[in-house]
Amino acid sequence: MSEKKRLLTGDRPTGKLHLGHLVGSITNRVRLQNEYESFFLIADLHMLTTKNKPEDIARIDENAHDMVLDQIAAGLDPDNVVFYMQSGIPEIHEMYTLFQSLVTVARLERLPSLKDMARDADIEMSLALLGYPVLQAADILCVRGDLVPVGKDNIAHVEITREIARRFNFLYGETLPVPDGIVGDVPTLIGTDGQAKMSKSLNNSIFISDTPSEVKKKVRGMYTDPNRVSADVPGTVEGNPVFIYHDAFNPNREEVEDLKARYREGKVGDVEVKEKLTVAINNMLAPMHERRAKYEETGLIEEIIYNGTQIAREETQKTLYMMKKAMGLTGVWNRIRRKVEKRQKKQTAQGD
Ligand code: TRP
Repeated sequence: MSEKKRLLTGDRPTGKLHLGHLVGSITNRVRLQNEYESFFLIADLHMLTTKNKPEDIARIDENAHDMVLDQIAAGLDPDNVVFYMQSGIPEIHEMYTLFQSLVTVARLERLPSLKDMARDADIEMSLALLGYPVLQAADILCVRGDLVPVGKDNIAHVEITREIARRFNFLYGETLPVPDGIVGDVPTLIGTDGQAKMSKSLNNSIFISDTPSEVKKKVRGMYTDPNRVSADVPGTVEGNPVFIYHDAFNPNREEVEDLKARYREGKVGDVEVKEKLTVAINNMLAPMHERRAKYEETGLIEEIIYNGTQIAREETQKTLYMMKKAMGLTGVWNRIRRKVEKRQKKQTAQGD
């Protein structure tokens, strides 16, 4: 095994990724992939905590496929990183069970993230949702992750993971690494409609896989400064989605500064600002589409997930064994089995 530290993070399989994912997490993953031995999880068991209808489950395969493909398109190297499917590793359930004794219900009930998730999904707090961070601890610790880049809403779950790892080590001896969580410093990307967050369900997303004409159409329909009724009225740049996107996706700083200055003076129309933004986004996406098409053609996405899951599963089995050994739990069943075998042997011998 390599000497590099391990990075672990993941997503629930919601399907195609959008620009919010790109700036919020994928770019960071691409940047860190060589520095760490990197594991990217498809958290389908986590999805079940809020979405467990047969039709949701039926979409997991396709959503996982799209997510992995988009991440490869954005620059993750499938020869170097591990993509794995949570439900393909049954030992994660076992680890999850062992962790449940190491955290209190009161601690989990206090987490605002879980209450938010229950509210958003319009469900009552279930045992599964309450255990969401504990299952996440199993994901992180199963491959003995050192670094866990997550969104703001998930950092408390990494904290739970740290507490569980420390508690385990305290009770049973040093076994598990205590991982570090990191939250990116980029703000959440606003939606094309000006809503606080780009999100598939809000219908305000530009997807990595969107064609140039889809991007053009979406940018043309973007929300801008609502007080600006015509191009000769001075407009507001701050908080304006079109300029937030220019700052995020247009590498031509000079052009962006020029547009901002003219916008403030009422000397540029929305049409020009949006056309230049369309070009910038399409230029950024073009090489991603090329990679996407190339990988789609190979038909290898499922194999990438399959092979990655085997690697992660082997690591999980190792970790689980280390844990059970530390707990004194490996011996229990073996001792019982040996007693049975011994007795049966004796009986057979007597019977002879
Ligand atoms: N909770 C993450 C989300 O909001 C997904 C996830 C599951 C995860 N297990 C993880 C993230 C482990 C980081 C590490 O979708």
